[in-house]
Amino acid sequence: MELMVFMTLLLLLILVPIFYLFNHKKYNGRLPPGSLGLPVIGQSLSLLRALKADKVEKWFQERITNHGHVWKASLFGYPTVVLHGPAANKFVYTCDGNLLANSQPPSLTRIVGCKNLMELSANDHKRVRAALVSFLKLEVLKQYVAKVDVEIQHHLQSHWHGKHEVQVQPLMKTLTFNIICSLLFGIERGTQREKLLPLFHDMIEGVLSVPINLPFSKYNRAIIARKKLVPMIIHLIQKKKEALMEQNQGDIPHKDLITSLLSIRHDDSSTMISEEEIIDNIIVVMIAGYDTTSVLLTFFLRLLASNKSIYSTIVQGNTNML
Ligand SMILES: *[C@@H]1O[C@H](CO)[C@@H](O)[C@H](O)[C@H]1NC(C)=O
Repeated sequence: MELMVFMTLLLLLILVPIFYLFNHKKYNGRLPPGSLGLPVIGQSLSLLRALKADKVEKWFQERITNHGHVWKASLFGYPTVVLHGPAANKFVYTCDGNLLANSQPPSLTRIVGCKNLMELSANDHKRVRAALVSFLKLEVLKQYVAKVDVEIQHHLQSHWHGKHEVQVQPLMKTLTFNIICSLLFGIERGTQREKLLPLFHDMIEGVLSVPINLPFSKYNRAIIARKKLVPMIIHLIQKKKEALMEQNQGDIPHKDLITSLLSIRHDDSSTMISEEEIIDNIIVVMIAGYDTTSVLLTFFLRLLASNKSIYSTIVQGNTNML
């Protein structure tokens, strides 16, 4: 299942800390075991193949067996040290910010930007994280239920009603994309959404490709997509800023992620978030939310379709069992 592959790789890229050998000359002779393989390509293709074949755990396990808990590899164009196991995790999460800092491969920042949460450290990280979390507070989330409901009703009407058979996974991608447009960008149905879809698609493909920037490569298409998307987001930010001004300084309810980030009060510099940070974080949230959510929804529907007892429990609104 291709989306699972994407999801796993996104998790790898975004959640599993991968740390680079900055100054690796300085540490010559003290590098962990493992091979850097061919220049640029390194082990990227082999990892991508393992992901496609759903053998990524085996891929890592083989290397852990050969090299131990700490080893080096070359992934997506950059020398990488992989740390595995509880001790390594404890080290990563307890050492101070001077020793290890959040960072993504520069190839990735060309697509997702360098001001996103995955790239920021220390106070900047805290500040942007707080801004994003304000969008996810329970009372704020409640306001989105109505918007999500509108999208789902419309989706069911246009894609499910009257059909004997549907392909759930592509439909869940469509639904997720529409909800992202509504909640993150505040873009309603129409041509603007349609313009966004191919850009969105190219960027996701590029994040998961070998970063070779040649004409027509997936990576190149993703960079072009970002170049087209950023002015669109800047335009949206401008329009939403104007709307906020008209509405007397942020008294309007949080309507979408852009508006919510814009209406964070600028008189408190500990929470202020720049336009550049808004753009890059919107892009990251959009990429990270798409496959993960659509795959989860697909499996959820499969469970409902195959297990009558769970289905009827949900239909009855009896959630004790789950
Ligand atoms: C349905 O789910 C319930 C609860 O998880 C489980 O006990 C039951 O075995 C499942 N039934 C089938 C047919 O998978």
